[in-house]
Amino acid sequence: MSQLKLSKEGWSNQTLFILAAVGSAVGLGNIWKFPYITGENGGGAFVLVYLACVLLIGIPVLLSEIALGRAGKANPVQAMANLAHENKASRLWFLLGLNGVLAGALILSFYTVIAGWGVAYFFESLLGTFNGIGKEAVGEHFSTMLASPMQLLFWHTVVSIITVYIVSKGVKSGLERAISFMMPGLLLILLVLLGYATTTGAFGQSFSFLFSPDFSKLSWQAVLTAMGHAFFTLSIGLGTMMVYGSYLSNKYSIVKAGVWIAFADTAVALLAGLIIFSIVFANGLEPGSGPGLLFQTLPIAFGQMTGGWFFGTLFFALVIMAALSSSISLIEPAVSWFDQNWGIKRKKAAWILGSLIWFIGIGTVLSFNEWSDVHFLGDRTFFDSVDFITANIMLPLGGLLMAVFVAWVVSPKDRAEYIDLNSRLMNWFVFDLKWIAPVAILTVFATNLVGADSVLLMILVSLAVYGVYVWNAMRKNG
Ligand code: PFF
Repeated sequence: MSQLKLSKEGWSNQTLFILAAVGSAVGLGNIWKFPYITGENGGGAFVLVYLACVLLIGIPVLLSEIALGRAGKANPVQAMANLAHENKASRLWFLLGLNGVLAGALILSFYTVIAGWGVAYFFESLLGTFNGIGKEAVGEHFSTMLASPMQLLFWHTVVSIITVYIVSKGVKSGLERAISFMMPGLLLILLVLLGYATTTGAFGQSFSFLFSPDFSKLSWQAVLTAMGHAFFTLSIGLGTMMVYGSYLSNKYSIVKAGVWIAFADTAVALLAGLIIFSIVFANGLEPGSGPGLLFQTLPIAFGQMTGGWFFGTLFFALVIMAALSSSISLIEPAVSWFDQNWGIKRKKAAWILGSLIWFIGIGTVLSFNEWSDVHFLGDRTFFDSVDFITANIMLPLGGLLMAVFVAWVVSPKDRAEYIDLNSRLMNWFVFDLKWIAPVAILTVFATNLVGADSVLLMILVSLAVYGVYVWNAMRKNG
């Protein structure tokens, strides 16, 4: 693959880049997925592992990914090809970009289905369905919705069309315009709900569920889920941040942006968790009730609180916006790849890709009804399988390779040019990317593959395999 194919589009300024990246990071992952997987995995210890993953793997990979995009100046496939060429590395690095483009499409295929639940709930809240509703009725309402493939398909289609429409408009008149009014509103509503959560009488219980770790509840599968979630929630490992970085001018600080993105994303997840578990415990609900958690808890609060109709409707409007500002970023790597490498103009590319992804999404629609007993990977439904392969395998693998590229392939001089860290922090950063992040990711993979009898052994094996690989590669390159 030859060089060039540079991005022609760009963000208007750094604030809009940060907003767009925060918009991508903050989404269903924070408000819907984080609370339910935390509930399924027993709370505190899981949260701690997730926070450690954000700090030790997430932030370094996030900075690397933005930097790779900005330096490669193109969609993930072409950016990696450009950088491999510049650094005289293997041409196969473009596969890292391709892994991302594919993962983005797969995630989007279920993301629009779940966002569709949010749209349905928005209209229902507006029509007063949740006024004074009790917990049984909320549960029943949710199950009835899931049981209807046509209803799910309808909302999945609506979200897919809006996503494609925004993306087809381009960076400035599509992405930027949509994002700039969504994010502040979301934060405001979360704060109002937090206020309500403190009045439920179960706020303390919710707090200790999230923050007092009980490691006996933690399995290696849970560690993999926590790590996968750190990737999912920060939108890293698949090239979204690379594409967004490719639209970023060289004069802006990547570190400042990265720290803001990670902070905002983590804060929203923890707030959403606190709110939802307060309602769960106050109503004697099950924290481990799975993907329906958000949709079976919040309507109870809205049904009871003063102004619930107003706040409920607003909340679901914001869920939709948070989801849309993420869904557009999931398809953007593929669209810009089609546009830049295949000569298919953005508009056409967005509609072709959107249709394909919509079609794959039908599998997720059916996972909750007709196919609920059809298993794909192990005992996972279609939805669970796509979620598992993307978040737990494709994204960490993508992140691992990005870390390796920045740490081992890029020269120290270029690295210093790409990423504005002072020399002490840079040393830490490089050490983390060279050893901590890759070995941690490999260990979690290995332990899940062969069982968790001896974790120490797995760390040593991963370190040895990785070490031999690095040594071999360095020897070949002289
Ligand atoms: N970070 C988004 C969320 O938490 O909902 C999901 C996501 C968006 C993942 C974009 C990956 C991505 F590239």
